[in-house]
Amino acid sequence: MNEDTQIEQPPVQSDQQAPHLDLEALVVKHCRTRWRKPIPEHTQKTFDYATAWLAERGNPTVVLDSFCGTGMSTKCLAEQHNNAAVIGLDKSAHRLTKHADTSDKYLLLRAECEPFWQLLVTANIKVAHHYLLYPNPWPKSSQLKRRVHGHPAFPLLARLGGSVEMRSNWQIFAEEFALASKLIGFTGKLDRLEISEPWTLFEKKYSERAQNLWCFRGIFSS
Ligand SMILES: C[S@@+](CC[C@H](N)C(=O)[O-])C[C@H]1O[C@@H](n2cnc3c(N)ncnc32)[C@H](O)[C@@H]1O
Repeated sequence: MNEDTQIEQPPVQSDQQAPHLDLEALVVKHCRTRWRKPIPEHTQKTFDYATAWLAERGNPTVVLDSFCGTGMSTKCLAEQHNNAAVIGLDKSAHRLTKHADTSDKYLLLRAECEPFWQLLVTANIKVAHHYLLYPNPWPKSSQLKRRVHGHPAFPLLARLGGSVEMRSNWQIFAEEFALASKLIGFTGKLDRLEISEPWTLFEKKYSERAQNLWCFRGIFSS
């Protein structure tokens, strides 16, 4: 195949051509049934560490960077939200240990996001701004329940309150996230994103490849 006949692959390959037909019923079901899963002991310990860290700082406004990867975005967000306590969460020790900086302005924690969100809700800790930057797309249609908005813990985002910002390089994923967010009470908008300074390593990689990026920004309103 020569250069002229090469067909460019879409950035995310999926058997879905549109938002999943089961999405709405799934999210409605998750809103009606409370997600109950035992909290892992290590997540409880990590959460206790986080609440002590917040208390030492006089319990300021909380900004959450869920699925933070190496924490590059967490550092960026701490610079932008000067008076807030910024917490980055990721389950991968491998990614988190790549974070070279140290700062007392933000905290990087190894934890599964979903039980951590549950603990925040139970402790009645509200999140002023919640960033979910490039969550795993799980692109096969059979993987809907693995996507962040197909997970039974997704309605917890509404109970954390505040604003959400989700970025993705897969338009259908972003459309699904926007639909699901509306169902749990967020009012917001999906836009194409132009990147000048990448916030994350994935964002850097996608923008270097000139991929289209999508951003849903919403505010919890009911
Ligand atoms: C595609 S990467 C994006 C990382 C980072 N936000 C970025 O843009 O560079 C997705 C990240 O989500 C993390 N992750 C996936 N599921 C998770 C979960 N349930 N709880 C916490 N982290 C999770 C993975 O370890 C991975 O670092």
